[in-house]
Formats: sequence, structure tokens, C-alpha cells
Amino acid sequence: MPGVFITFEGGDGAGKTTQSELLSGWLEARGHEVVRTREPGGTPLGVRVRELLLHGGGEIGEFNARAEALLYAADRAQHVAHVVRPAIARGAIVVQDRYIDSSLAYQGAGRVLDVSDVRRISEWATGGLWPHLTVLLDASTELAAERRAARGGGADRLEAEAAEFHAAVRAGFLALAELDSDRYLVLDAALPADELHTRVIARVAPLIAGT
Ligand code: TYD
Repeated sequence: MPGVFITFEGGDGAGKTTQSELLSGWLEARGHEVVRTREPGGTPLGVRVRELLLHGGGEIGEFNARAEALLYAADRAQHVAHVVRPAIARGAIVVQDRYIDSSLAYQGAGRVLDVSDVRRISEWATGGLWPHLTVLLDASTELAAERRAARGGGADRLEAEAAEFHAAVRAGFLALAELDSDRYLVLDAALPADELHTRVIARVAPLIAGT
């Protein structure tokens, strides 16, 4: 029986990590093999690419938007081939922070690239693998900024973008969710973590019933 592929999406500071940890714990307590992973950076190659993407600049110079999109796609190709597909093939449940939708929202809606071009690159990179469920934690730009500030530690290259960029990314995610409502569960990231978790498992339980 093949496994299940679940992704968490949302702006920086929406609470993806907390929810994916809670979901992974819940699944493991029920005896499932869980592969908890993330993009960018879910493989050794991806860790290097992540460094470039998040902390580039300096001698690397300013990123060209297409180069940036291709680096995310390269990370994804490696990750899907080496981690996600093998896990699904052996019946595990993959719980992943960020996937194709992040590229569509950040590189497409957030930057100036055509969303359908960005989609095509990622579909080629992954051989057309889409998640069974994508949980979008939708945070207002104010809430996300507050959480990023509370987390401290300075902003990475994308977090440091202007408020308009984050607003465009948020609108991009919401538009994707509307177009693909069967795959998406949209939740208000301002809800308490345990309430969000309850809603996530209500949607996940029927998905894993046969695994
Ligand atoms: P992430 O590790 O999820 O950071 P955070 O925990 O702060 O949310 O993601 C790193 C950054 O990379 C984040 O700002 C979103 C961005 N990103 C893209 O722009 N495109 C992509 O395809 C992915 C996967 C991430």
C-alpha cells in the first residue's frame, strides 16, 4: 500500500513547524512510519542549496528571479527522488514543510515570474508528484511579522523582503487554495496551536484510514 504525502504551507512565521511536529507525533503514536522533512534543505545537496538561497548575496551578488526559481526546483528534484518517492513507495507518511506551492507563491506571485512557468519547472523536477493534502496556515502579514520578531535571530534573505512581497505571497497561496480546494485545507494561523492540530487531524484521519 503506497504512503501518503502531506505538506504544510504558509508565510514565514505562520506556525508550520509546530503543526507538522504535532501531526508527526500523532501519526507515530498510531504506529505509522513518518518521514518529517522540508524544502529547501531535505537532502545533503539541498542543505547546500538552502545556504545559497537563504544567505546568498555578498560575493554571489543579487539573485536573478529565474536563477532563484531554478535553485528551488533543483533542491526539489533531489528531495523528491531521494526522500519523498522512496518513502511513499514503502508506505510511509511524508509530513513536509513547504513544496511546489511555495514556489508558486514566492517565485510566482511574490516575484515577477509567470506562475505557469514556475509550475512547469517544478512539475518537471518532480515528475508531476503532488501532495494528497496541503495544509495552508494563513497568517495576516501583521501576525507573521510579530511571530518572526518574537522568534528573533535575524531575518533570512526572503524574510527581509518588504511587506508588499509578503502580502503578494499570502494572496498567492489563497488563490492556489481556491483553485484546488480538494487538495487544500486552509486554516487561520491565529487560532491556538491545539485547535489547529484538531482540525488538521480531522482531515488527515480519513486519508490514512487505509494505510
Ligand atoms: P523555510 O525553511 O520554511 O523558512 P521558515 O521556517 O522561516 O518559514 O523556508 C525558507 C524560505 O524559502 C522561506 O522564506 C520561503 C522560501 N521558499 C521559496 O521562496 N520558494 C520555495 O519553493 C520554497 C520551498 C521556499
